Amino acid sequence: MGAPIRPTVYVETYGCQMNASDSEIILGALSARGYDPVNGPEGADVILVNTCAIRDHAEQRVFGRLGELRRHMTRDTILGVTGCMAQRLGPELLARASHVSLVVGPDGYRALPSLIDRARGGARSVATTFDATEHYEDFRPRRLAGVKAWIPVQRGCDYRCTYCIVPTTRGPERSRPLEDVVREVAQAVADGLTEVVLLGQTVNSYDDGHHDFADLVRAVGAVAGIRRLRFTSPHPNDFSDRVLDALATTPAVCEHVHLPMQSGSTRTLRRMLRRYTREEYLACVDRLRLAIPGVALTTDVIVGFPGETDADFAETLSAVESIGFEDAYTFKFSLRAGTPAERFPATDTVADTDMSARLATLIATVRRGARARNFALLGTYHEVLVEKPAKRGEAVQARTRDFKTVLLPPDEAEVGRYYMVRLVGTTGSTFTGTVVTDRDARGTRALPMASIPLAAAG
Ligand code: 5AD
Ligand code: SF4
Repeated sequence: MGAPIRPTVYVETYGCQMNASDSEIILGALSARGYDPVNGPEGADVILVNTCAIRDHAEQRVFGRLGELRRHMTRDTILGVTGCMAQRLGPELLARASHVSLVVGPDGYRALPSLIDRARGGARSVATTFDATEHYEDFRPRRLAGVKAWIPVQRGCDYRCTYCIVPTTRGPERSRPLEDVVREVAQAVADGLTEVVLLGQTVNSYDDGHHDFADLVRAVGAVAGIRRLRFTSPHPNDFSDRVLDALATTPAVCEHVHLPMQSGSTRTLRRMLRRYTREEYLACVDRLRLAIPGVALTTDVIVGFPGETDADFAETLSAVESIGFEDAYTFKFSLRAGTPAERFPATDTVADTDMSARLATLIATVRRGARARNFALLGTYHEVLVEKPAKRGEAVQARTRDFKTVLLPPDEAEVGRYYMVRLVGTTGSTFTGTVVTDRDARGTRALPMASIPLAAAG
């Protein structure tokens, strides 16, 4: 007798790392229920599109994709939409896409197997109730991120930034008990992973009722086998002295922090309800640089927020220049239905042509600074972890502790291993390198600093 045929499931992910992590949880849950994950929609019995609602553009892409997926479907294929767009639109999604039979928000994945079974019987369902206790603790994620483990430590958000739909789509903030996070990190190490990324909407406001983010960083950093510890995204207001102290004294903490700024103008920050001024943000940068010497900073910036003037935008540019971000995710403001930003008068709306011009100037400013600093790094030595084969050409892609991308010859470096490399070329944003020593073979631990100055390293 042959083995029973297992149904197949394909999950396509849009949006942030939290969504990528949720997809791993969904796939883990469905594999435990007898599904085989597959890498494409062709022939899959179940197709799930895990969506993002942060900007209108993200949603339009998903609608386009849902249309395309039709051609991969037979009469028996179940198509579901999960994630933030599912939560935001609910039944409207069923009405707008007749071939979708499941709409499941971020707290509803536990019910997926039974909802899929009901869909087989023809039912179309919407599951968008928030569950403030849901952390999917008993689900074993099916890790897709290669050499690093994404570890969700907090779900939801209690800030109310006026542009943001996330508090509506992911509900109130709640933190996972520290012991559960540590258990998952230890499991990731047992599975051969040495880098973890702690995930939360405002991850450094972590509070499980007994422990804060400082305790969490120390506990995760103490798990044997963890060489690299990252976290994303923090809120500038949640870096207490305790948290900075934990970052400073935990050797695995990498020299890179993604610190969303959103705007460099205090007036705009107020209207965004970010709860910090330009000066407070700059002070946060200084404190981080003291706590983590050599820290590389990246950020998120929105241009064209309602009421943003040329003078406000000039303040954003000057902040970007004086801080010297290594990279920035830059966005045109997108008005989301149901966010407080809807209450600004229409006269505050920034014209799309102005937004485009500001975006282009901002991107050029970020690149110019990063490029100059990257060229100055040629010849320096860095520890890298090899992450995956590079997209183009014959190379593998590795990362420094401070998050720079380094391409290495594939015969010199193996995925999943650490090497000391010398940076020999740069496009201005990514590097090429050569391997100097195999960090695993020498049995060395991660260095507390990202780079060794040229003189010291020979
Ligand atoms: N319009 C444009 N960008 C947005 N972001 C969040 N909401 C919006 C919006 N309505 C950006 C912020 C955030 C990042 C994840 O997306 O910069 O940090
Ligand atoms: Fe959105 Fe602000 Fe919460 Fe970030 S902190 S998820 S931008 S509301």
